[in-house]
Amino acid sequence: KVLILDFGSQVTQLIARRVREAAVFCEIHPNDVSDEFIRSFAPKAIILSGSHASTYEDHELRAPQAVWELGVPVLGICYGMQTMAVQLGGTVEWSDHREFGYAEVRAHGHTKLLSGIQDFETPEGHGMLKAWMSHGDKVTALPPGFKLMASTPSCPIAGMADEERGFYAFQFHPEVTHTLQGAAIITRFVREIAGCQGDWQMGSYIDEAVARIREQVGDEEVILGLSGGVDSSVAAALIHRAIGDQLTCVFVDHGLLRLNEGDMVMDMFVGRLHAKVIRVDASEVFLGKLAGVTDPERKRKIIGAEFVEVFQAEASKLKNAKWLAQGTIYPDVVESGGTKTKKATTIKSHHNVGGLPETLGLKLLEPLRELFKDEVRALGVALGLPADMVYRHPFPGPGLGVRILGEVKKDFADLLRRADAIFIEELRNTIDPATGKSWYALTSQAFAVFLPVKSVGVMGDGRTYDYVVALRAVQTSDFMTADWAELPYSLLKKTSGRIINEVRGINRVTYDVSSKPPATIEWE
Ligand code: XMP
Repeated sequence: KVLILDFGSQVTQLIARRVREAAVFCEIHPNDVSDEFIRSFAPKAIILSGSHASTYEDHELRAPQAVWELGVPVLGICYGMQTMAVQLGGTVEWSDHREFGYAEVRAHGHTKLLSGIQDFETPEGHGMLKAWMSHGDKVTALPPGFKLMASTPSCPIAGMADEERGFYAFQFHPEVTHTLQGAAIITRFVREIAGCQGDWQMGSYIDEAVARIREQVGDEEVILGLSGGVDSSVAAALIHRAIGDQLTCVFVDHGLLRLNEGDMVMDMFVGRLHAKVIRVDASEVFLGKLAGVTDPERKRKIIGAEFVEVFQAEASKLKNAKWLAQGTIYPDVVESGGTKTKKATTIKSHHNVGGLPETLGLKLLEPLRELFKDEVRALGVALGLPADMVYRHPFPGPGLGVRILGEVKKDFADLLRRADAIFIEELRNTIDPATGKSWYALTSQAFAVFLPVKSVGVMGDGRTYDYVVALRAVQTSDFMTADWAELPYSLLKKTSGRIINEVRGINRVTYDVSSKPPATIEWE
């Protein structure tokens, strides 16, 4: 396996993705792990990441000495290259001025890493790479034993190599897709230079994960909070594969789920997988606690706290449970364990149905901790979960509680559920001719929002005075920023027509054309 040492770059996770796309297993750890840790990790190769843009004090960050002494290939990227140069006797010129962006990089001489990899050739016959650079600080003298591997006019040492020791480094970022040959470079590094097998696949991953879970858990019992979302569903399916009836899932229905969602979850897990699932219908309790509450943050807090309460009450009935399973995935781990996470102002206090407090006194079982979202999805499919469950849009823990503006009432939830289901159905059924994909697949998240205001309408000969629904559909890669989706008018027209005709109580539909920021994806 490959060890990635993270110096705090925004794109370190992309290195891991590229390595795993080369079917090689890897893990990211902070740059300051101990020498002993590195030795016991026994990596077949080490990759040093970049660092934050323009934080001057970061120039003190160094790779542990063991990196250079282990005798395995090392690839330094951006800051990783600079620290490699400094630690091995080269020089670096630090600067607080940075340049970002596209660069054409010349590949020099012949190295095992770049040989035959290029985007185009100059008339003089130089092999060139189209790359994404972010430099300012740069290596100005090669360490002893190194030769020049790449250069640009403004960065004469944009790549260096000591092939004897298997040390390679680039100033540009091979992990980002803007560097067209980046995936090829990383694949060559881990497969050919480091000699990793390239046999990391879902099938074998399932076998390994199942064996690991059995070993960890033994004959003890496990409980898991099933939300119907992708992560907890895949975790449940995997653990069930490993230990069968030693797993009990608790599915709390807070009355704020989507149309038929509870039944679908039960059909899937009980009907098809034959897992043990306790369905707790707590909708009355939740709606009771929410009565009269209009403030979004208070609603979130109430739903979060009540969820824990209900789950704990169920969990305490399972006297033999020793483990709490969670669908924590890799980005959650990196985010919460990251060395340099800046504390942002709380826009919304996210309540996650998967996230339970440690007060239960149970041991944690998190079998998806190493996986990225797309790997979790692939695993779900490999475990036999239906694709439309695995590729579902995300749904917030507080559910419709934050999609009914102001006070949450059962009648409102019922209207919203039906409107939302129509919208989703139309998105799934409308195929974009340009891509051949449905608009559900082309959007990252789409849903209806209930607005507790009444407007006048006319239906047949009569006057109506009913509620409004807003449709929201966004496209985003990380949910931190998002654009509203330019859905076809015909799709909006059909959806609006169906909602107004089929859902008595709603007589007006609007489409939300706000991007994030300044709006957020959810309305509350
Ligand atoms: P916002 O509205 O902040 O949403 O732009 C970003 C993403 O987070 C989801 N979201 C939540 N997920 N618990 C969750 O599990 C929450 O309390 C919560 N609030 C927002 C939202 O659906 C979107 O995908």
